[in-house]
Amino acid sequence: SDIEKGTYPHYMLKEIDEQPLVMRKIIQAYQDINGELAIDSDITAALKEADRVYIVACGTSYHAGLVGKQLIEKLAKIPVEVHVASEFSYNMPLLSEKPLFIFISQSGETADSRSVLVNVKNLGYKALTITNVAGSTLSREADYTLLLHAGPEIAVASTKAYTAQIAVLSILASVTAKVKGIAEEFDLIHELGIVANAMEVLCDSKEEIEKIAYEYLTVTRNCFFIGRSLDNYVGLEGALKLKEISYIQAEGFAGGELKHGTIALIEEGTPVIALATQKNVNLSIRGNVKEVTARGANPCIISMKGLETDEDRFIIPEVHELLTPLISVVPLQLIAYYAALHRDCDVDKPRNLAKSVTVE
Ligand code: G6P
Repeated sequence: SDIEKGTYPHYMLKEIDEQPLVMRKIIQAYQDINGELAIDSDITAALKEADRVYIVACGTSYHAGLVGKQLIEKLAKIPVEVHVASEFSYNMPLLSEKPLFIFISQSGETADSRSVLVNVKNLGYKALTITNVAGSTLSREADYTLLLHAGPEIAVASTKAYTAQIAVLSILASVTAKVKGIAEEFDLIHELGIVANAMEVLCDSKEEIEKIAYEYLTVTRNCFFIGRSLDNYVGLEGALKLKEISYIQAEGFAGGELKHGTIALIEEGTPVIALATQKNVNLSIRGNVKEVTARGANPCIISMKGLETDEDRFIIPEVHELLTPLISVVPLQLIAYYAALHRDCDVDKPRNLAKSVTVE
């Protein structure tokens, strides 16, 4: 590969560290000459016309789509459904009158996503692809493209593409809101700048995060991630990262669902990583932590400045509450990285996985 690791032992670590820079590149790439965030007016017009947005993706890109749904619904006030491409292909939901499709794909080559794109284009619908690769298949075959500007991602476990996808989705949501005449809730350029700085702080906290990975994940066979609202979605991604590269069985789910099944799996010492970055569910997620702790779990609370308590293991810097996934995912990426490292796994090339899956 012509992309060098430089002084980094693994591409994954390099790509995690590139995230603050990617945020700044995205802020620049999506600014007009007046310094305002801007998206091609054909794209915002297509969103404005749509009565419902269907996000279709796989893997980590699907997890970014879940966060994207919140952003588009909260800011642009358009209902959004998020679908796993391989399910959508064979079990198409009843579509709205005026759907708009958004395909999220780092590579732009994923066969499952492409199959849905071909189908919906045949049905006469418009599609937007959000991808890291200009000229990729999903970009060429869609009506519109938004680029991630994340630079090549080599490690199989996706990191900087996930945060880039969320950042681009936030800009898309915010600019569409403006086009729809919805009053601006916050200054997104400013808030994304705060995110970039917060990411830097996290990238400088590797030693502390490595200790957490070592302490919780060196010997365990499983690990749970819990969260509510946006934290739930980030937990899904944290669990996927951990599974992919450390082979620890990991599951992410909504805190409130614990009592409906998963709590049966909690044993003495089971690691439970809980995210607490959302003010409106801060008390309830902490209640869930108490429930698992009472059954012997080894809890690791990752909270955000302003919401922290003495029991928390790691505290991320404060960012806008809609943008927390951009930074709460960073310690989870690093936890997965160090867990894999301590378990002697091949971080950049995990078994059975491919960077880009071009078969259905
Ligand atoms: C593969 C990769 C994942 C990725 C997924 C979707 O399974 O290993 O990291 O999230 O494909 O890829 P895409 O390029 O469509 O985002």
